[in-house]
Amino acid sequence: MRAAPSTVDILLTPVHRWVWADVQRRARKMLRFSETEADGARDITRAAEVTRDPTLRRLYLRHADDEQRHAFLFNRRGRELLDSSRAGVFEANWLAPGERGLDDLEVGTENDESLLAFLYLSEKAAAGRFVVYGRVLGCDPQTGAMFARILEDEEFHMTYTRKQLARLSPRRQGLRLWQARAGRLWKAYLRVATAIAALMGTAMLAIQYFLILPLFAVLAKRAARREPEGFSRPRAGRTLEGQS
Ligand SMILES: [Fe+2]
Ligand SMILES: [Fe+2]
Repeated sequence: MRAAPSTVDILLTPVHRWVWADVQRRARKMLRFSETEADGARDITRAAEVTRDPTLRRLYLRHADDEQRHAFLFNRRGRELLDSSRAGVFEANWLAPGERGLDDLEVGTENDESLLAFLYLSEKAAAGRFVVYGRVLGCDPQTGAMFARILEDEEFHMTYTRKQLARLSPRRQGLRLWQARAGRLWKAYLRVATAIAALMGTAMLAIQYFLILPLFAVLAKRAARREPEGFSRPRAGRTLEGQS
């Protein structure tokens, strides 16, 4: 099975080129990808522990080993790039997320079929993105070659997950894929909604700070000017004796 980028990723090629052009951002992204791959390796190792199918266990262990190696490769390349640059750049993770999807994995709640469907879609999406990243990394052939090497593993991951899904669920494989796709869409919606909510929260706080707060400060100052200076006169008719 060969990986192919999605239409969205093809349309976003100029954006991907911009994201990857900056060496510092590239370094940061490598380190971020490394964390995601290491997380994926842990989740898939857990899946190997949980499954009762010996073939799947063997494949999951190889898969986890691949992801761990990817984590190492990304980390090493990230550090190399970071050594030749400064830190602290906008990473644009929204636009070039890498092997995202495995970070949504909840191994304990999935059975073999739903897990394979989920893994297949995640690996397919990641492999497609890695094809695009390889294409736009003309400025950095070393990182481009690393993506090409990792892409071969990702293609193996998408091939074995698809074949194993067909073996375990020959009749309901379409349904399983449809359910996994719906789950991914829902999580994508939640990610976008969370990001929009964070943006709106920041905007609301800025409006409160720069518009509403100064208004109250002006009103408070005007009210303070109307107050008589010095001590206030005691209210008439109230004495200490009267309180006893
Ligand atoms: Fe990977
Ligand atoms: Fe993978």
